[in-house]
Amino acid sequence: MNVAIDGPAGAGKSTIARKTAYNIGYIYVDTGAIYRTLALACIRRGVSAEDEEKISSVCRNVKVELKYIDGGQVMLLDGENVNDYIRTEEVSRMTSSISVYKDVREQLIDLQRNIAANENVIMDGRDIGTFVLPNAEVKIYLTASVATRAKRRYMEQQEKGIECTIEEIEKDIEQRDYRDMNREIAPLKKADDAVEIDTSDMTIEQVTDAIEKIIKEKMS
Ligand code: DC
Repeated sequence: MNVAIDGPAGAGKSTIARKTAYNIGYIYVDTGAIYRTLALACIRRGVSAEDEEKISSVCRNVKVELKYIDGGQVMLLDGENVNDYIRTEEVSRMTSSISVYKDVREQLIDLQRNIAANENVIMDGRDIGTFVLPNAEVKIYLTASVATRAKRRYMEQQEKGIECTIEEIEKDIEQRDYRDMNREIAPLKKADDAVEIDTSDMTIEQVTDAIEKIIKEKMS
């Protein structure tokens, strides 16, 4: 059984997917982390986000792997655990920029499909229900207003002690939404058969309860 959760940055996908997976004993796959790992490789090599040719060459020359250690997803770049380096704003921007390229998406597709073929997974991303797992039994499209998403991200950054303003974050979210939704290959959009949930005025528990109910109904 595969569950696909798609939606824009900050809609709560990863928190909700992780929690739901834990509750029902499925494996959580964070596909954003997979793209982020490749983006980190590009940053480390000093490649510009506009240089598609060099980015394609990075794709061919690095090894991106995913492992589970103590139930947590660990991203390996050429064998090195890079979990601590892939959550910066610099990596977020680079990831959104390079994920428009065909070679980047092709490089990472098998990794995602192979995990889903062998396990019960809840996989979150942008194109899971539409492209990676078009036959997923359950598809969820999570949204929230830009204001809500910016506020959530602002609070996360505050907790980490990172200086920023809500206005900067809103602008960043709008730019990422635009890029993710308007790219040519596998853009972010709701699959026709996905259930849309607007999480703006919902708690994490309310959203996970709603998704668990949908999964249980599908299983029965
Ligand atoms: O979910 P996230 O914020 O970690 O994703 C970072 C970027 O990766 C996002 O802006 C778009 C890209 N991405 C993608 O193109 N396809 C996916 N399945 C997951 C992420």
